[in-house]
Amino acid sequence: MTAVQTKTVFITGASSGIGYATARLFQDKGWNVVATLRKPEQAETLAALPRVLCLPLDVNDRASIHAAVEKAIAHFGAIDVLVNNAGYGLMGAFETLDEAQIIRQFDTNVFGLMETCRAVLPHFRERKSGALVNVASMVGRVPLPLYSVYNASKWAVEGFTEGLVYELCPLGIGVKIIEPGAVNTAFFGRSADRDNRTGVSTYDQYSKAQFGVMDKTGPGGSSPEDAAKVIYRAANDSSQRLRYSVGTDARMLLLARRWLPETLFRAMIRMSLSEKAFNSVGKLLYKS
Ligand SMILES: NC(=O)c1ccc[n+]([C@@H]2O[C@H](COP(=O)([O-])OP(=O)(O)OC[C@H]3O[C@@H](n4cnc5c(N)ncnc54)[C@H](OP(=O)(O)O)[C@@H]3O)[C@@H](O)[C@H]2O)c1
Repeated sequence: MTAVQTKTVFITGASSGIGYATARLFQDKGWNVVATLRKPEQAETLAALPRVLCLPLDVNDRASIHAAVEKAIAHFGAIDVLVNNAGYGLMGAFETLDEAQIIRQFDTNVFGLMETCRAVLPHFRERKSGALVNVASMVGRVPLPLYSVYNASKWAVEGFTEGLVYELCPLGIGVKIIEPGAVNTAFFGRSADRDNRTGVSTYDQYSKAQFGVMDKTGPGGSSPEDAAKVIYRAANDSSQRLRYSVGTDARMLLLARRWLPETLFRAMIRMSLSEKAFNSVGKLLYKS
């Protein structure tokens, strides 16, 4: 009997939240894990686990991506699954955001993700196998107010990833999109970019009211472990299925987007984000 080869997953943004929980889950399931992080000092807990290799990787530093992929392959012999998870949310009315913030959002969420694909795909192609799992968001198909640029970055991830299906699936490479709704992570806190750098104050009142409501979705949303389970399921699903949502909010809103006429859908979003409606309807979607 031949021994079953231990599989290897390569994860970006493994320092916290969904990436960290995903690294823990794959490790728990017996996989080799390449947990990549921007700051090596955040690697301590993961690095102490067996079969986990922590490597520095900043998706805005192309050389660090290619170096990490090379080291991972040299260390474990192969990469079977790539989880493109690194990302953050730029939030606020569009006019309050300056160009540098917008460029950084796309550099991280879109171009960084593409470059990681560029680094790993030749390896998948050579082996005629592998799974690419891109963490997009529910807002990649259901845009929310004050997230215009973040919405756009995740729409880009959706379009990019769906387009890859036609190129990669015939080569034996699986392609998956993860669409989380609100997940209780640092996304809403330390990771968020909400600076008003242009000083436009017209939207202050609207922003204050909307963020007041939206900030409640994170703590009441899914756990990072819930998201990790969906990522694990997607990575191991050899079917042609492309999209996997995380959380009741994502499931309900994606369904509503599919079946409601556009104007009705937008009215529903506007209404459900009012303080009063959120306190009643929100209870159906979020834990608190
Ligand atoms: N939480 C949600 O509600 C939610 C919903 C839908 C989609 N998502 C998506 O899920 C993914 C993970 O977010 P999360 O919720 O787990 O938030 P998180 O806890 O803030 O994790 C974000 C991770 O991305 C990393 N990261 C950010 N910029 C990076 C860069 N330039 N290079 C490498 N790593 C970078 C962070 O590293 P540092 O520790 O160095 O900052 C961190 O490890 C993101 O793509 C996010 O857009 C989240």
